[in-house]
Amino acid sequence: MKIIHSIPEMQQEALEQKKQGKVVGLVPTMGYFHEGHTSLMQIGREQADYLVISLFVNPLQFGPSEDFDTYPRDFERDKKLARKYEADCIFNPSRKDMYPASPLTRVKVHKLDRYLCGRSRPGHFEGVTTIVAKLYNIILPDLAIFGLKDYQQYIIIKQMTEELHYPIKVIAGPTIREEDGLAMSSRNKNLSSEERQAAPLLYRGLQNARQQFLNGEKDVEKLLNTLRDSLHQSPLYRIDYLAVVDGQKLYPKKHAQRGDVIAAAVFLGKTRLIDKIILE
Ligand code: PAF
Repeated sequence: MKIIHSIPEMQQEALEQKKQGKVVGLVPTMGYFHEGHTSLMQIGREQADYLVISLFVNPLQFGPSEDFDTYPRDFERDKKLARKYEADCIFNPSRKDMYPASPLTRVKVHKLDRYLCGRSRPGHFEGVTTIVAKLYNIILPDLAIFGLKDYQQYIIIKQMTEELHYPIKVIAGPTIREEDGLAMSSRNKNLSSEERQAAPLLYRGLQNARQQFLNGEKDVEKLLNTLRDSLHQSPLYRIDYLAVVDGQKLYPKKHAQRGDVIAAAVFLGKTRLIDKIILE
C-alpha cells in the first residue's frame, strides 16, 4: 500500500492507474477508522481496481467553536486498518498543501444546506463540498463512496457531483451501528462512560418514531414527541435539532410520508451526535 502526501504525486499516480484502464475508487475520510469506514473500504475494494483512501481532517468544515483540535487522530492505527482492507493507497496531504491560504475558491450547494446540520453549522457543507471537489480533482476517481449516516452530506455531495458534471459514480454505504444501536462515529471516542450509556436512546427514539409512523401516525410533531420522550429518559441530552424532512430535497415536513427522513442532532456533553432513520 502506497502512502502519498504530495498532491502532484497523487495526481501522477492516479493518471498512471487510469492510463492502464483501471477503475479508480475513492473513500474520503477524516481518519480514526471504525467499522463504518471499513465497510466503505469493502465496497470500494469490490467495485474498484485501484482503491484510494483519503485521510485529511479538513479545517474548512469545522466552525470556530467546534472540535477540530480534539477530533480523534491515529495515523498508525489507520494505516494498519487500510492495509488490512486492501487499500492500494492512502492519500494524506498536509494542511499547508491543501490550503496554502484561506481559499478564495469554494464550492457551495445552495438550498440543500439550509436545513438540519446546515442550519446549526453555518459554512460546514461548503467546507465539505470544497474539499471533496479538490479530492476529486486530485484523485480523478471513477467512483466515490460515502456513508449514509451523514445523510445530508451524501445528498449534497451527490448533487454537487451531478451538477459539476464529474464523471464519478457516487455510492452510498450503510450506517454501521454498535450492538446497542449507536451509529458508529469517530466522535464516539470522546463520550464519557455515562454519556456512552445514554447514547443508544437516540436510535431507540428514532426506531419508536418510525414504528409510530408505520402504525399510521403522520403528524410530525407527534413523531418528534416520541423521539423527545426517549431522549428525556436521560438528563444528559441537549437537543440541537429534531426534524422530519423530505428524503431528497431535505425541507422540513409537517405531515410525514414514505421516503421522508427523521433526522436528529444532539449533544451529549461536548460531543455532537447525529443520526437518522428513513421512513420506508
Ligand atoms: O465524512 C467525512 O468524514 C468528511 O466530511 C469528508 C467527506 C471526508 C470530507 O472531509
